[in-house]
Amino acid sequence: MEPDLNPYHPGSGIAPRVLAGRESDLAAFDSLIARTKLSVPVRPIVYSGLRGVGKTVLLNRLRSLAEHHQFAVIQFEARPGAGGPEASRRALASGFVRISGRYRMQVSTARIKQMLSTVTSFSLSVGIEGLSLGVDRDPSRASSGLLDLDLQDSVEDISLALRHERSALVIFIDEMQELDEELLESLLTVQHYAMQRELPFYIIGTGLPNLPAKLTEARSYAERLFEYRIIGELDDDAARESLTGPAGQMGQSYSSEALEALIKETGNYPYFLQEFGSAMWTVATASPFSVQNAQAAVALGRARLDSGFFPARWERATPSERAYMSAMATDGDRESRSADISQRLDKSAQALAPMRASLISKGIIYSPQRGYVAFTVPGMADFIDRQRRLLED
Ligand SMILES: Nc1ncnc2c1ncn2[C@@H]1O[C@H](COP(=O)(O)OP(=O)(O)O)[C@@H](O)[C@H]1O
Ligand SMILES: [Mg+2]
Repeated sequence: MEPDLNPYHPGSGIAPRVLAGRESDLAAFDSLIARTKLSVPVRPIVYSGLRGVGKTVLLNRLRSLAEHHQFAVIQFEARPGAGGPEASRRALASGFVRISGRYRMQVSTARIKQMLSTVTSFSLSVGIEGLSLGVDRDPSRASSGLLDLDLQDSVEDISLALRHERSALVIFIDEMQELDEELLESLLTVQHYAMQRELPFYIIGTGLPNLPAKLTEARSYAERLFEYRIIGELDDDAARESLTGPAGQMGQSYSSEALEALIKETGNYPYFLQEFGSAMWTVATASPFSVQNAQAAVALGRARLDSGFFPARWERATPSERAYMSAMATDGDRESRSADISQRLDKSAQALAPMRASLISKGIIYSPQRGYVAFTVPGMADFIDRQRRLLED
């Protein structure tokens, strides 16, 4: 079909034409909005799942929903590595400045003036200069130099002002498992405080499957602070819709055999649905798409995954990290016990620790629970097996 009209969007954070099967996840957030407007307490939400299941596109959709309801939003992605902590703090401070700055004209109102002064203090204390709100800092608010207290003052004064407008402050954090400890703990403390004070403030987070455990490790009450939702592969109907919907928008359709053959290959995993749908669009010359088209699309889709998606991970790994991944691959897509990996490689856990840490920081594996590791994408183990067989041939 016409390549420029391909309605499938394999990628990272690229919105699909049809966001299939996420109705209940969207409804949970709709309910948060509705309850906030009615001043009924509601828990913020954390969404977790493997890479490629659609967390980022869901978060973007929730953010649009919040904006549509005139909520004040800040969104950022927590980044691993040295620059991450500073980038997160700056994102928060500049978000506070942007949000409070909208009310500058109402500075004669005490509530608004307080918000502006507090935010000025906060941005100075995280080292942001030159974002002037036209008021002096309040030396008694957000000026302690302690992140949790300063963040709390800022969130409190902003959300008190927003509450008056029937609005709320929502911070959307993608890759939340990457937040540095100090900021993570501070955000949890502030969210806890806001719940007790019934302030309209919510952290909406997305991250890998270990995110809920990370939050609970940081603050044990985090277990009850959030509503936790797991984002996984789609159910069968949603998987079909994610393929037929985009084609339908372009006036094209699938034969039911072709549809089933393609879906079977994807395991209902959103990224693969986009990749195989896109391959179908490439190979088909007429619609309804046929079983023969599906066979060709499966071959093309697999080839694309094996030349892009999987190698992007494999090739970022050093030889010793690859050995570590190969030892994991014995367990397929299931999690691997660190002790088993040690045994398979005949190396101590201590000797393997640097490889494990490096693969985690590269986002290739994660630790679902103490003493275990797993791949962050499905199908990685099979890919490694295919590589091994290619080398042996
Ligand atoms: N509900 C869905 N239905 C169909 N495709 C989806 C859905 N959610 C995500 N996708 C597609 O899956 C891919 C991965 O989405 P992304 O949000 O980047 O995943 P994650 O953040 O979990 O790694 C993208 O190509 C996106 O268009
Ligand atoms: Mg993402």
